[in-house]
Amino acid sequence: MSQVIGYEREGDIAVLSAQNPPVNALGVHVRRGLMAGIERAESEGAKAVLIYGQGRTYFAGADIREFGKPPQDPSLPVLCDRIEASPLLVVSALHGTALGGGLEVALSCHYRIAVPSAKVGLPEVNLGIIPGAGGTQRLPRVAGVDAALGMITTGRHVRASEALEMGVLDKVEDGDPREIGLTYVRDLLEADAPRRPVCDMARPTPIDFDATYDAVLKKGRGQLSPAIAVRAVQASCEAENFAAGQARERELFLELMASDQRKGLIHAFFSERAVSKLPELQGIEPRDLDRIGVIGGGTMGAGIATSALLAGFRVVLLEMTQEAAHAAKDRIASNLAGAVKRGKLSPENQEDILKNKLILATDYGALSGVDLAIEAVFEDIEVKKQVFAQLDAVCKNGTVLATNTSYLDINEIAGSTGRPGDVIGLHFFSPAHVMKLLEIVVADQTAPDVVATGFALGKRLGKVSVRAGVCDGFIGNRILSAYRTCADHMVLDGASPFQIDTALTRFGFAMGPFAVYDLAGLDIGWAARKRKRAAGLDPRARDSFYADKLCEAGYLGQKTGKGYYIYEKGKREGEPNPEVMPLIETERAARGISPRAFTDEEIVRRYMVAMVNEAARVVGEGIARRPLDVDVTLLYGYGFPCYWGGPLKWADLQGLPKVLDDIDTWSEEDAYFWKPAPLLVQLVADGRGFDDLNKES
Ligand code: 3HC
Ligand code: NAI
Repeated sequence: MSQVIGYEREGDIAVLSAQNPPVNALGVHVRRGLMAGIERAESEGAKAVLIYGQGRTYFAGADIREFGKPPQDPSLPVLCDRIEASPLLVVSALHGTALGGGLEVALSCHYRIAVPSAKVGLPEVNLGIIPGAGGTQRLPRVAGVDAALGMITTGRHVRASEALEMGVLDKVEDGDPREIGLTYVRDLLEADAPRRPVCDMARPTPIDFDATYDAVLKKGRGQLSPAIAVRAVQASCEAENFAAGQARERELFLELMASDQRKGLIHAFFSERAVSKLPELQGIEPRDLDRIGVIGGGTMGAGIATSALLAGFRVVLLEMTQEAAHAAKDRIASNLAGAVKRGKLSPENQEDILKNKLILATDYGALSGVDLAIEAVFEDIEVKKQVFAQLDAVCKNGTVLATNTSYLDINEIAGSTGRPGDVIGLHFFSPAHVMKLLEIVVADQTAPDVVATGFALGKRLGKVSVRAGVCDGFIGNRILSAYRTCADHMVLDGASPFQIDTALTRFGFAMGPFAVYDLAGLDIGWAARKRKRAAGLDPRARDSFYADKLCEAGYLGQKTGKGYYIYEKGKREGEPNPEVMPLIETERAARGISPRAFTDEEIVRRYMVAMVNEAARVVGEGIARRPLDVDVTLLYGYGFPCYWGGPLKWADLQGLPKVLDDIDTWSEEDAYFWKPAPLLVQLVADGRGFDDLNKES
């Protein structure tokens, strides 16, 4: 008997307990243990089998680390069929998260009971695959096609109470999973309840699968797995019998298992978990956090305060005037109302937060007791330095002093205090209470426990935190600046902003760069360009001015209703602004450029290669510790298509020699911009990829 599955007898009942921490993933030893447990129970003359998980959860799914490796018997579908076919009464008791293969094991049991806090789901599509052990065939039989598709195409986790209503669970009861399971099995035996194999249930009623497939494909913005899942569920209605439906599921599952999208999404899954694991933080205790100060209550300050309040912190928000403080409170109230609407906050808690947890202030003295202060005032180094000098004067010893600056030098900001070890960058993304990414920017003198406190705060706020070093734009905005420059060059040379946006959204980006400019406000880029020009541009750099002309005309994007696009009231998407192309054409003519045609493919390729090249520099310079830190930054902060796993995973999948070849070719037209990053050159010379660096770390 394998050690990862315990076997005991409770009278007529054989009890199989999973003991494979942390999440009882169904690796080969667990599968063998379950198989052996069922066989032993049958050979020993037990009447029933109870399966449950020890520790924090029932099985949370197949062992993702086995994906892409040679399969080892028994496979999960074979195991599930064997459980279902057992002549004994087989019951599962669920707690924690019964996900993917975990729920598939449960569905192959004859009855299912769960504790109220349990959640079930088939999240395989989020890993680029579909349920592969009968989930697409059994779930529609127990819950109907609509409910099954609702779970399988989104991967959402469903609470026990809802799963009970759907028929996925037979009973929900509070208590220890082993105990409630045993009582349930005894009741079933006493009532002489029959075995109830789902494979024997009638085929579910079909729906219009073609229409559903099209709708799901469109919603996935290029992600294939949810749409393919629709076809697998279709087989549960249309295949001749259960086995034929299962064979179709297997075929589709294996196709996706071999796909680049699966590789990208699995990379994203493990990278998201690896980002916060930094060797230098091992054994370092974060500082205690209870009260958070926020300085500046504009777009970002209000968002940061909302995020902290939603996580249960008390917040002191400092603004320049009473009026500004009240405006900030209105912004926070509106953010909280949104959280109530989305079911993330109860109306009572909303009221309690606004009344008791949020303190408004205009006097720095109010910040004397905070454990961490985050500054989100105007992006101006002198203003920031003044704010930090005041924080230094009033905050108690040990307060972490954080800045939300997008670009400014945090070493210089830290230098305006007498305690640079306490200063750190906490770069949130807009809207700060919604966006998952937090860049934790470590300055030269930041103390290790201050870094640990940044990560602890990120965790409490539900963020994905990435460590970054100090440079102009840190990881994300620095790379952004390179690929936007590439887009600007393509516009000068003949592509239109609208073609570029379309090509990139077809590639999978949530938005194209010009639509993003409009969303953020064209004045932000304008200010950055002015700043760079004032600092002195390299004469070889290609600058462009057409965007300045839009700003000078008062077109600042969505906030003014006009930018690259024109926005009708109430509509989020705009129509191309006809005044844009003439401005571009005038600039091309003035520069003597004869515009040429770009294919969508070339647009994507140049944009992506520019991104990869700058990302390689960011890693090479140690601004990002590992390639995966860049990948997670772009995935969670910049709308990068999740199924590519991030730009550096994309580059690995393309092959780095090809990426370098492109740079070499394009450097003939612009040797200044298309200069290969030393790390990229090195990796190609060594025949290695970015992921090799991830594995070394
Ligand atoms: N396989 C292998 N390792 C897994 C795993 C899995 N299915 N699920 C989680 N882990 C690992 C994580 O990598 C992490 O390892 P680390 O400590 O070394 O970083 C550890 O378990 C704990 O995971 P989390 O940090 O994510 O813990 P949380 O408590 O935050 O979340 C969870 C728990 C909700 C179970 C979350 O881990 C999760 O969503 N896991 C994936 C679930 C999933 O997708 N299951 C389907 C798998 S595909 C499948 O079953 C195919 C089948 O249809 C054939
Ligand atoms: P904003 O202009 O909306 O808000 C700034 C607020 O700070 C204003 O309400 C102003 O009254 C207040 N303020 C200015 N000086 C102050 C002082 N001395 N004391 C107290 N309050 C003061 O600006 P926004 O967009 O919120 O940006 C704030 C910071 O966040 C900037 O550093 C910006 O670069 C950064 N940031 C902005 C992002 C965005 O998408 N807007 C994203 C990430 C970072």
